[in-house]
Parts: sequence; C-alpha cells; structure tokens
Amino acid sequence: MSKTFDIGISALAGPGEFAQANVDSAPPLSNGKSFFIETFGCQMNVHDAEKVAGVFLARGYRAAQSIAEADVMLYNTCSIREKAAQKVFSRLGAWRGIADGKIIGVIGCLAQQEGEDIFERAPWVSLVCGSASYRKLPQMVAELEAGGRRLMGLDLDTDETFETEITRRDNPLRAYVTIIEGCDYSCSYCVVPHTRGPERSRPSDAVLSEARRLADAGYTEIQLLGQTVNSYRDPSARTLSFVELLREVASVAGIRRVRFTTSHPNDFHREIVDAIDATPVLCDHIHLPVQSGSTRVLGAMRRTYTREEYLEKIAWIRAARRLISVTTDIIVGFPGETENDFEQSVTLLDAVGYDGVYAFTYSPRPNTTASTMPDAIPEEEKYRRLAVLQDRQRQIQIERNNKLVGSAFELLVDTHHSARGQWAGRSTSNLIVNFTSPLQNLLGEYVQARVTRAAPFSLVGEQVI
Ligand code: SAH
Ligand code: SF4
Ligand code: F3S
Repeated sequence: MSKTFDIGISALAGPGEFAQANVDSAPPLSNGKSFFIETFGCQMNVHDAEKVAGVFLARGYRAAQSIAEADVMLYNTCSIREKAAQKVFSRLGAWRGIADGKIIGVIGCLAQQEGEDIFERAPWVSLVCGSASYRKLPQMVAELEAGGRRLMGLDLDTDETFETEITRRDNPLRAYVTIIEGCDYSCSYCVVPHTRGPERSRPSDAVLSEARRLADAGYTEIQLLGQTVNSYRDPSARTLSFVELLREVASVAGIRRVRFTTSHPNDFHREIVDAIDATPVLCDHIHLPVQSGSTRVLGAMRRTYTREEYLEKIAWIRAARRLISVTTDIIVGFPGETENDFEQSVTLLDAVGYDGVYAFTYSPRPNTTASTMPDAIPEEEKYRRLAVLQDRQRQIQIERNNKLVGSAFELLVDTHHSARGQWAGRSTSNLIVNFTSPLQNLLGEYVQARVTRAAPFSLVGEQVI
C-alpha cells in the first residue's frame, strides 16, 4: 500500500475509460459558464468537491475540462500538515496570471483556518469558504454572479449538514456517502475540529434514500464517510445506531459492497465486528487509526485509549470468523516521543500485523495544543523514525502478502493498464490485485482472480474463469 494520504482514490481508471461520470439527476439548462475544482486532502474533501460541483451544476454551470478554460476556479484545500497548507499559497500564486475575468474561490480546511487573511495574501480571490458553510454556497454563488467580491463562509458553529440536490460522482464504481460531518474529539495535534466544526450526523432516512438512488443509478459499492464515522448517531426519530445504519445500507437491493471510514478506536465496539461477520455485504476491512503504540504518547495526543485497549479491539477483529484486514495511521516524532515510545509504535506493527499503514511525521499545526508542547523532535530524527517504521511494515507486508499467493479473491475491476496488458481491481478487504485475463471490457465487472506473485505493496494474479 502506498504511503500517500489519498487513500482509496489512487486506483481509479482514467476518465476516458468509463462512460461519463455519474450525476444524480439531470442538471438544468446551461448558463454558458463553467467551473473547475482542484482538490487535495482526505476522502471527505474529495466527496465535498463532488457535492460542491453539484451546487454549480444545479445553477446551470458546466464542468470545464481544464482550469484555463473555467470561469470559476475553486481550490479545495487541506491543512492537516504544514506541507499541504504551504502548497495552497504557491498554487494561488500560479493562478494569479490567469485570474483576469474569472472568479477564484478557496474552500475546504485551509480556507476555514486562514479565513480573511487569504484575501490579504491573494487579493485575486473572491470567495473563502470552509466546509461547515457549504450549505450557504448556492446563495454565495448567486452573490458572486451579481458581482459580489470577498465573500466569506466561516461559520463553524452549526448543527446542519451539507445536503445537495445534485452530486457529481467522479468515481464511477464507488460512491461516497457522508453520514457524519465534523469532529467532537480534541486530539492535541489535529486541526480538523477547528476546520470542520462540531460533529453532526445526517438523518438515517437521508443516508438510506441516497443509497437507494445510487443503487438505482447502477452503483454496487458505497463508502460511508465521516472523520469519526463510527460515532454516528441518527438525529431522526428512528435513532439508528451506527451498526443499525450499516445493516440497513447493506440491505439496499443492488448494493454488493459497503465500506466505511474513518473509525475512531474509542467508538469501535464489538457489535461492528459482529455485523461484519454476519453480513457479507459489509467489507472485511477496517481502517482503525492508532497514531502511536505508546500509552504515554496516546495520553499526550488525547486519543482517549491506551495501547492495551486498542489491542483488545484488534483481538475482537482477529476472533471474527471472516478474515478482516486492518489498516492504520501512525504519527512519528510527536513532541516528547522518546526512543522507547517510538519502539512501542514499531512493536505494535508486529502485535497487530497490519495490512497497510499510513505513517506521517508530526507536523505542528495552528490552534492545536500540541503546537506549544516542549521537546520537539528534530526533523531528521522524525524522518529517521518514519523510515524505520516503514521498513518494518514493509517486512510485515512481504510476509502477509506472500501468504496470499495461491488464494483467489473477488475483485471489482477499476483499472486497465493497457500498456502492461493487465487489469486491476480491489477485493472486499481492499487489496489491489493486478491481473491478466483473456477477456475484454472488464472495467466495472466483478471477477475472480488468483494471486500468483506478491510484492510488499502489490499483488499480481490471473483471472479464474
Ligand atoms: N479522524 C481520523 C483522522 C483524520 S486526519 C482519526 O481520528 O483517526 C488523518 C491522519 O492524519 C490522522 O490519522 C493522523 O495520522 C494524521 N495527522 C493529523 N494531524 C497531523 C499532524 N499534525 N501531523 C502529522 N500527521 C497528522
Ligand atoms: Fe482529528 Fe482526532 Fe478528530 Fe480524528 S478524532 S479528526 S485525529 S481530532
Ligand atoms: Fe485535510 Fe481537512 Fe481532510 S485538513 S485531511 S481535508 S478534514
């Protein structure tokens, strides 16, 4: 598995390979103008862009093929680490030259974080809007059309979710569905509660009717989204729990795979494992970010669980009848992380036997309590720890993947590597298998493939016919 943060969106087929991307319902007549959205960050940001695109489509805009030809250019930003944030201003600088006569907007997490300052640093920007204010976008777009400039949507204090009439689905095979927005935790290193606002769940009926519409449109795979997806609490009279919602989405006719991300260990209960065990449509993969293997560091991170409590949850997963794959996120070099603390993150890799790890060097962020903690770890030391951790995980994945040689998986085919004569698809456990087949036109099909060769980050196989 690669170490990028764009989990799950890297293995898509090129746009030309499928029929047109899905739009929920027919957009109105064109207003002759076009928009382009450039997106960074997590799946929530990717899906927000699909909904924001829907707002523009509903007003008669069409999607431009490139930034250069667009009348409205939006930059959907991430601020989880310093590097992601730095990129934004250099990119906005590059847009300056083509800004004439266009509307430029900065949306997403860095927009929320930097607010009005963006207008000072990049006066060619007309709109700054954080995700908690997207429900006001239709009105803001109308104001921009009427000549409005320097519009801001930065209200974080909300209990509303962002509902759209139209969503433009960029992934033709896997549809994202938001079930919960924001975050009520307060991990000491993290900007998300400051950029996305308080936790608010969507009514279960809205989620289920979206799932049914997706099934009617031909989708067979749904990924439920939330920063703490398993903290879901149905605000409607039905008061479904997360597990009840999972079961109901999984029973929508036509849906063959349901995934969910990201689970917080504190809200991870045995019932989730029981539901996966009993419901084949629920995918046998859990992304359960641990952040550190040291209970002391977990305390300083305010993660609300100990190493032992986390391992207890892993034991429930390992006791399941289905083989459930587990992936995680780890931060190395948190302030005050000793060599011994770090060692405990490395030994945790062995104790769990992860199928994939997204590891990051700690990056101090504005408005977070960790940013003022003493005992910062020098950058080179953070990178050394990152390399050690990644190296250990690589060994673990070699061993785990070698054991898969000879096994067959059902794959949903999402990529055609025509130059290599290979197809690629994902198993329910989120493994990517590159495989050969004597057949044609496999994109979007479910096939069986047997693994013939394993590498640490990829599997090679052939279709079983
Ligand atoms: N809500 C999820 C994580 C969201 S952010 C959870 O609670 O697990 C995605 C990942 O980015 C986190 O899991 C963490 O590993 C990483 N991350 C967040 N803030 C960071 C920071 N300041 N420096 C380095 N990595 C960070
Ligand atoms: Fe950030 Fe923690 Fe919330 Fe995850 S749970 S989004 S890491 S504050
Ligand atoms: Fe980045 Fe915001 Fe997602 S900071 S990781 S885009 S929640």
